[in-house]
Amino acid sequence: MPHDVKDLDLAADGKKRIEWADNFMLVLKRIRKRFEKEKPLDGVTVGCCMHVTTETANLMRTLMAGGASVNLCASNPLSTQDDVAAALAAEYGGNAFAIRGEDNETYYDHIKSVAAAKPNLTMDDGCDLIAYIHSEAPELFETLWGSMEETTTGIIRLRAMERDNALKVPVIAVNDAKTKHFFDNRYGTGQSTVDGIIRATNVLMAGRNVVACGYGWCGRGFAMRASGMGARVIVTEVDAVKALEAAMDGYQVMPIAEAAKVGEVFCTLTGNKHVIRTEHFEAMRDGAIVANSGHFNIELDLEGLGKIAKEVKPGSRELITEYTLASGKRIFVLAEGRLVNLAAAEGHPASVMDMSFAVQALTAEYVVKNKGKLDVKVNNVPDEIDEFVSRIKLETMSIDIDTLTDEQARYLSSWQEGT
Ligand code: ADE
Repeated sequence: MPHDVKDLDLAADGKKRIEWADNFMLVLKRIRKRFEKEKPLDGVTVGCCMHVTTETANLMRTLMAGGASVNLCASNPLSTQDDVAAALAAEYGGNAFAIRGEDNETYYDHIKSVAAAKPNLTMDDGCDLIAYIHSEAPELFETLWGSMEETTTGIIRLRAMERDNALKVPVIAVNDAKTKHFFDNRYGTGQSTVDGIIRATNVLMAGRNVVACGYGWCGRGFAMRASGMGARVIVTEVDAVKALEAAMDGYQVMPIAEAAKVGEVFCTLTGNKHVIRTEHFEAMRDGAIVANSGHFNIELDLEGLGKIAKEVKPGSRELITEYTLASGKRIFVLAEGRLVNLAAAEGHPASVMDMSFAVQALTAEYVVKNKGKLDVKVNNVPDEIDEFVSRIKLETMSIDIDTLTDEQARYLSSWQEGT
């Protein structure tokens, strides 16, 4: 199979880890079993630009079980698990183009390799593949039926394309499905971000001032988990409603200019640019730890930090860069400001990716069934997919719930009964 991976000899290790993750992806497994029989993706070419993890490999296996050929490149230069890329190529028959630590040129060469397969469907984690097709390979629209997007960041970009009338293909906002963002963004990012910060630094969270920049679903997950470990959490926001929610959830809320003075660990989770800037770095305490868990490495102004630093050197541990300012204060930046949960840890645990990737697999089937009929806009995932995924997930967790009595159903659809 065409591939560009670090070392095919890593495939056996990758396969073991992929199978381990599969133990926790029971909704996806059930879909895979059905796909094996029904082959709803027979002959379909899928192009994916996603984090190359054990969980993603299980999504690729599911698409292949449905009859698709898959072509996968990384959606971030630091998130690839090389053993997984090797296993996909050597053990599962996928076309994998991803090497952890690849430079920008290789990153885009890998996107080109995926585009060269002429995908009928694309799946993005951050919108880079579909943005590449729009700007560099518009001839691919002829054979492209639809595109799915996994992240808040990607949806923001796609909505901007829609507003500018630049969008040329139907997109499905997988991120916005309830069974995706309520769980993956909150519990997945919450746990994996704390995990990444701890693996990189081994810092104690208890009693520490931890600043969460952004209180969307990812930010609230991180705040909740850091707080659960005993951190004193401060939230910064630009949205008044979200700031109010953070305040009523019990966190201190203040501008980043104030938080910079008291924070000890900082993490951005906003989807926006330059959330922590030079004036904030200058105000920080000596030894501040700074990370980003948003999709792109632009949330921290690291170029600005480099300019005000008198020395920049590798920190004492892997994935830490130590910046020394003119004042002598040191700032420790994790994973070059790239998403810390995937660069320093393994991303979200499999049981939450189970839901996100079940939505992806079912949405792929939906796009194939509806090819040529979907509007060229950012479409929602059909409600039935959310309902199916939540119902089966509960079933796999052995959780039963109640059903409405006839009387209750009647009451909810009537207006006559009042005081
Ligand atoms: N995004 C966040 N965590 C992930 C994971 N484990 N696999 C793929 N994409 C992810």
